[in-house]
Amino acid sequence: MLPSPAIFPLTEEQSEIQRTAREFAAAEITPFTAQWDRDSHFEPTLVAKLGAMGFLGMLIPEQYDGLGLDALTYLVALEEICTHDASVGVMMSVHNSLPTQMILNYGSEAQKVRWLPPMARGEILGAFALSEAASGSDASALTTQAVRDGDDWIITGSKAWVTHGTHAGAILVMARTDTPDARKGSKGISTFIISPELPGFSIGKKEVKMGMRASPTVTLNFDEMRVPGDRMVGEEGMGFIYAMQSLDHGRLGIAAQALGIATAAAEAARRYADDRRQFGKPIRDFQAVQFKLADMASRIAATRALLYATARAKQAGENITQFGSMCKLLASETAMWTTTQAIQIFGGYGYVTEYPVERLFRDAKVTEIYEGTSEVQRIVIARELYSRS
Ligand code: CAA
Repeated sequence: MLPSPAIFPLTEEQSEIQRTAREFAAAEITPFTAQWDRDSHFEPTLVAKLGAMGFLGMLIPEQYDGLGLDALTYLVALEEICTHDASVGVMMSVHNSLPTQMILNYGSEAQKVRWLPPMARGEILGAFALSEAASGSDASALTTQAVRDGDDWIITGSKAWVTHGTHAGAILVMARTDTPDARKGSKGISTFIISPELPGFSIGKKEVKMGMRASPTVTLNFDEMRVPGDRMVGEEGMGFIYAMQSLDHGRLGIAAQALGIATAAAEAARRYADDRRQFGKPIRDFQAVQFKLADMASRIAATRALLYATARAKQAGENITQFGSMCKLLASETAMWTTTQAIQIFGGYGYVTEYPVERLFRDAKVTEIYEGTSEVQRIVIARELYSRS
């Protein structure tokens, strides 16, 4: 079920990078995916390997040691990695879409020179810390507080749900810089580049998760953490806007991830339906199975069409807030539906760990939750309907 080149045209370079990602994943990831999932193991050597291949600097300009590629090329590579292992994919997605883009888009030249080259090479993994225990969807209600102290900032608070926060060397943290007696809501938040050697930084609880188990998700604690003034990114008070704009792009990454999961599940189901015989014939001869496979292929094609079109619009400089949310919503619901149906086609074998579809099902669920729940995506889409009219 390879995407038709006529309907989803890729350039020579995009096809080449897609092939490279596929070969890399087949050699370095797929043989270990099931084991890493079973052990909830994050493989740290993959960071350097992905970096050496250029996969951690895909959107970083060449002057900062990145590949300087366009959004679609990046998403095609990401989707490919995610068909093999969505946990590795989320590392690639978060790093490329959020922290590196925030430094690139809003950081000073000195910050770009200092942080982007090692991030592009895979020497420093980037993370994103917006959510807190009591502020998830209501992101601007965050309470982590930064207080100025001479040239430095003293930051106190905790961040929740930080993807690969255990291994990150540059964490883009949103914290309040307004004061308790003059709260400014979403305009009272600023962005800082935090690194683990700062005094007062510690890694807290590691979550035990349903899926995406090879990607550690942790709480980060800041106990009067002293942060040099040159770690603030962009303008004071603009941190929430920066986070929202970056999530517009991040959501395309999660859509590519969900598309990869859905594609892997559909392909596993297609093959299984060919091999598995019941009532004297392969189960693909039954319409009940054919209809599921047909619906999977149709939903995946529609999702891919929207994602590729949105990536091209982004590259052309258009605002993609609404379509980014549509991509994530459609892709994550396609992944959840497709993996559910794939398990149904596998029957009992879909429910056990011998085949990959139960892992794909578990991995799919979080794509409806992180980087904004499906409900938040619907809020964003609906708001834009009115703002555009
Ligand atoms: N681009 C630019 N500006 C934006 C924007 C966007 N996409 N979205 C909002 N803004 C601006 C608004 O225009 C507004 O500015 P003004 O006051 O000047 O008009 C300001 O930001 C505040 O916006 P809202 O009033 O819309 O804010 P809100 O409090 O109503 O929240 C929300 C809106 C869409 C629900 C938002 O809070 C949201 O997206 N929540 C979900 C957060 C999320 O995705 N978290 C995931 C964290 S990452 C993660 O999952 C873990 C990981 O490691 C990957």
